[in-house]
Amino acid sequence: MKKILSIRGVTRSFPGVKALKGVSFDLHQGELLAVIGENGAGKSTLMKILAGVQSHDEGEILIHDQVVDLSSVHKASEMGISLIHQELNLPSNLTVAASIFLGREPNRHGFYDSAKIRADSLKALEMVGLDCSPDCLVGDLPIGKKQLVEIARALLAQARILIFDEPTSSLSTRETHRLYEVIDQIEAQGVSMIYISHRLSEVQRLADRVVVLRDGEVAGTLEKEGIDHGSMVRLMVGRDISQFYLRQSHEAGESMLELIDFRSHAHPDKGIHLKVRKGELVGIAGLVGAGRTELLESIFGVHPSPGNP
Ligand SMILES: Nc1ncnc2c1ncn2[C@@H]1O[C@H](COP(=O)(O)OP(=O)(O)O)[C@@H](O)[C@H]1O
Ligand SMILES: [Mg+2]
Repeated sequence: MKKILSIRGVTRSFPGVKALKGVSFDLHQGELLAVIGENGAGKSTLMKILAGVQSHDEGEILIHDQVVDLSSVHKASEMGISLIHQELNLPSNLTVAASIFLGREPNRHGFYDSAKIRADSLKALEMVGLDCSPDCLVGDLPIGKKQLVEIARALLAQARILIFDEPTSSLSTRETHRLYEVIDQIEAQGVSMIYISHRLSEVQRLADRVVVLRDGEVAGTLEKEGIDHGSMVRLMVGRDISQFYLRQSHEAGESMLELIDFRSHAHPDKGIHLKVRKGELVGIAGLVGAGRTELLESIFGVHPSPGNP
C-alpha cells in the first residue's frame, strides 16, 4: 500500500515532561490506523501536531515523501489533514451551514454567498447521512450529530487524512454505530484515517493496523491479523496481562454512605437509593445526560439539593 503520511523522529516536550520521544510511523493510503496507549502516552499531543494545533521540537512530517510545514491549522488543512476533536469545538450559536463553512466562506463579488453555502452544506450533510436542516443551530444538536457536522466540514474541505481523537467517548451506543457506518463510507472513498481509542473492541472492529504508544514512544505495531485484545494490552502496559488484571478480592465492610430517595438538581423528580460500604468501589454507569455528574455534585454539596428528605 502507498504511503501517504510519514512521521519521522518527532519529539515534543512540555515543562517537566517529554510527551513524545522520537516517534516514527507511516500512514498508508486508504487505511484506518488506530493509535492506542495508556493515558498520557502522547497520543493527543501527536495528533495536535499533525493538525497544526501544536508545534513539535524535532523530527519531520512528510506527505507523499515531501517534508511539509504543519505550523498552523490552516497549513495542515491545506495539506488535507483534519482533526475531529475530543472536545467538539463548534460555536453553538452558528447554524449547521455556517459551521460547515466556518473560516472559508465562498465569496462571490465580495458578498457572503448564502445560496452556495446552503447547497454545498446539503451535499456535505448527505455525505455523512445527517438528516437535519442546514439552518438549524449547532447548539441544539445532540453530541453525535455535532460530530457528524465536524466530519462533514472536514470532507467538504477535501480532507485526505482524517484524525479522530477518542470520538466515541461521549456517544451513545446508537450514535457510536452511526459513526462506524460513516467511517466505513469514508474509508471506501479512499480517505486515510488515524483513530485514537481506548476501547479495544472498537479498535478490533475498525482498524487495519494498530500503532501502540507508551510513554511517548512507539511500543509496537500490530498488523490486521495480529490485532487482538491480549497483544494490544501487552504493548500498552509493557508487561503481562495477568499482572495488569491482578486484583485482590476482599469483603466490603459497614455502610459508609447511604442515599435514601435522594434528589439531584438534574432530575429532582426521581429519587435515588444507593449504599456505599467501607472498602467498596461503586461504579455509576449511564449515558451522557443521565445525571451521573450531577448526582455526585449534589452529594458533595456543589448544588443545593431540591427537596431532599
Ligand atoms: N499543553 C500541555 N502542557 C503541559 N503538559 C502537557 C500538555 N499537553 C500534554 N501534556 C503532557 O504530555 C503527556 C502526553 O499527553 P497526551 O498527549 O494528552 O496523552 P494521551 O492523549 O495519550 O492521553 C502527558 O504527560 C501530559 O500531561
Ligand atoms: Mg488524549
